[in-house]
Amino acid sequence: MPKRTLFIVIEGLDRSGKTTQTAILHERLVAAGHDTKLMKFPDRTTAIGKMIDSYLKSESELDDHAIHLLFSANRWELASTITQTLLHPSPITVLCDRYAFSGIAFTASKPADIPFEWCRAPDVGLPAPDLTIFLDISPETAKERGGYGEERYEKEEMQRKVRAVFGRIGGEMIASSERGDEEHASLAQGGRGRWVMIDAGRECEEVAKEIWTLVEPLVKEGADTPIGKLWI
Ligand code: TMP
Repeated sequence: MPKRTLFIVIEGLDRSGKTTQTAILHERLVAAGHDTKLMKFPDRTTAIGKMIDSYLKSESELDDHAIHLLFSANRWELASTITQTLLHPSPITVLCDRYAFSGIAFTASKPADIPFEWCRAPDVGLPAPDLTIFLDISPETAKERGGYGEERYEKEEMQRKVRAVFGRIGGEMIASSERGDEEHASLAQGGRGRWVMIDAGRECEEVAKEIWTLVEPLVKEGADTPIGKLWI
């Protein structure tokens, strides 16, 4: 199979600097000659995305299950764009700010106690990232960076729970890449794994440097495996 470009996801807690780090990585990839498509979930520009946007701004109310399915539908409506970009004859890397892992982490952290497996189900089969970088930050450091924003989930108690669920997701992802399932063997080799946690409580440039040290050799190498499917 000819080499293809990588699908890279950046996940993180609020105040972790996720959007800044995604922008820096995007710039570095392009400067290094890797044409890169930047995506973001939720994508608030689509019809579904507009419903999500209104919910997040508390301009509308929705059942917790219904909003969860909308977040997932928002990914499914762009799934073919991800796949087509990765398979484009001229190589284009896909870099994405949040993905299905946020979907699980946020819904499973709600007071409604929606089961983890239920939260994961609608995203099963989506294009799987080759690499997910999780930007971790302690609630204490997040607090020092200034209060959370205006949107619905930006509350300390919620963020603590979200961090714990991300921990579970990461643990499972690392365990599965250590088993080295054949489809992702090239990225699982050498302990690189598909889920990498980075301490985002440090200076911005230090974090950016660690991300670049991780990503640069991987994008240079590309992947010679088919695009994976999440949790299949
Ligand atoms: P943003 O601040 O990165 O635009 O994300 C908006 C909020 O939506 C953030 O609090 C995380 C949350 N979220 C979910 O609840 N489910 C999802 O599937 C995604 C992608 C985000």
